[in-house]
Amino acid sequence: MIEAMNGLFITFEGIDGAGKSTHIERLAQALRAQGRVVTLTREPGGTPLAEQLRQMVLNDPMDAMTEALLVFAARRDHIHRVIQPALARGEVLLCDRFTDASFAYQGAGRGFDWDILVTLERWVQGGVLQPDLTIWFDLPANVAALRLAGARTPDKFESQPQAFFERVAGGYASRMSADPGRFARINADQDAQSVWSEVDRAVREKGILS
Ligand code: TMP
Repeated sequence: MIEAMNGLFITFEGIDGAGKSTHIERLAQALRAQGRVVTLTREPGGTPLAEQLRQMVLNDPMDAMTEALLVFAARRDHIHRVIQPALARGEVLLCDRFTDASFAYQGAGRGFDWDILVTLERWVQGGVLQPDLTIWFDLPANVAALRLAGARTPDKFESQPQAFFERVAGGYASRMSADPGRFARINADQDAQSVWSEVDRAVREKGILS
């Protein structure tokens, strides 16, 4: 059962290459400077079991349903062991990807049944747990492809063609239109300082940073 919580749950989303990481770190520093206790975590991952599942999801060939079940299994363990306890302690939890990624990657990207994902989401999140804010780093798939080219050895997702990431971006757009109040869409096709300004504005508008 998912208990009442009083922390703050912020998730970060976007296609591979959108450049979330430095901004997650910077936001963590800004929140800590204001005296908040911040937990940084990621999905798939965030617990020893979920990190093992991450290795499989990112590296082993599997069908879309297996992939969906594994990311939700990892999420269940992560919620149970890390997310719920941190929120119950009143912390700020910054999570690099969450359930919107399952809709975007397994749903829109792979074509896995959206309604089954809705059921898994309700099941694993107890029908109540949702991020307070989701910061979506929106970047055109062709720009992301240029950024990823020549980077470290690509994993299973990073080596997908541009058309896959166009579908993934469409999945994020659908999630945002279904719950616009939860999302802040950031134009990630700018220099890092301009992207940070948008992130900073989004968290201030929500009263998260003062
Ligand atoms: P990243 O943490 O380096 O961004 O990589 C995680 C990868 O896993 C990324 O390509 C997106 C993918 N992913 C899914 O396919 N489904 C999910 O539910 C999550 C959380 C991530």
